[in-house]
Amino acid sequence: MPSLSQDLKNAMADAASETEKMMAFLLPEAGIAERKLFDAMRYGSLNGGKRLRPFLLTCSAYLFGVNDRSALRAASAVEFVHCYSLIHDDLPAMDNSDLRRGYPTVHKKFDDATAILAGDALLTYAFEILSNPETHEDPNVRCSLVTALAKASGANGMVGGQMLDLIAETTSLDIGAITRLQRMKTGELIAVSCEMGAILGKASPPQRNALRAYAHDLGLAFQIIDDLLDAEGNEAKTGKPVQRDEKAGKATFVSILGAERARAQANLLSDQAARHLGVFEGRAKHLEQVARFVVEREF
Ligand code: IPE
Ligand code: IPE
Ligand code: MG
Ligand code: MG
Ligand code: MG
Repeated sequence: MPSLSQDLKNAMADAASETEKMMAFLLPEAGIAERKLFDAMRYGSLNGGKRLRPFLLTCSAYLFGVNDRSALRAASAVEFVHCYSLIHDDLPAMDNSDLRRGYPTVHKKFDDATAILAGDALLTYAFEILSNPETHEDPNVRCSLVTALAKASGANGMVGGQMLDLIAETTSLDIGAITRLQRMKTGELIAVSCEMGAILGKASPPQRNALRAYAHDLGLAFQIIDDLLDAEGNEAKTGKPVQRDEKAGKATFVSILGAERARAQANLLSDQAARHLGVFEGRAKHLEQVARFVVEREF
């Protein structure tokens, strides 16, 4: 398998650093009574992570000539939603994880109630950012961004997927049901990252469809590898506990197909994802390369 290009690594590092600057700007330190909440929000969102969703959003937006400020504000909003989802995912009532991105999880560093509130506040703040005219001058664009992110995050998207994921600990699911679960839990937020770039850039329907198809395959491949990393990865690299899914009795692609077939499926999806980008005639190189990254990654 070809190794990842330095060009992609540099581009991902640049996008992560630019998004983190914007996120830190949007989340200033607070010297107020509820400072603990703001500290927890910063702790849970500014501490590392691959920043994959911001990368997808900015790459998609730049295909359509969107300016940096709009792209980075939208990228921060998606990443705040993602960080909220991780904070809540790690809580004792869900995955009960002590480690995230190489550090104690928010509820370990603070407490459960503060972690719940920090997650709630990051989620709602994402929509405040998107609805601010600083994000885009056209109110229709802002409204479409809010709608798209709300749908992807809510009961028919990430949150619904998390519910199914808990059900998957006690109910046996077939491959179709697991595919649906993964698409909702992880795929929708990945897909909306690309879609928001297209919304900001007022992309044509064929361009939007191509990005949507790309991101759906990418999201599924991404979660299959997440499950493989849980089964076979190492905590020092992933920065989170491993071998938890099997202990929880969770049905995943890996538990159903076995590691080898799950990896083959992820590779297939990654190739398929990249092929959807033909409509951009070679201008979406980083998106093509990131499809390889999601299946080759070790963290
Ligand atoms: C982890 O997401 C949770 C899933 C949806 C699988 P990431 O692997 O993108 O986590 P970070 O943001 O890099 O920490
Ligand atoms: C969580 O999936 C996906 C979210 C929506 C947060 P996992 O529970 O597998 O994510 P990790 O492995 O803890 O990062
Ligand atoms: Mg989970
Ligand atoms: Mg988890
Ligand atoms: Mg996992």
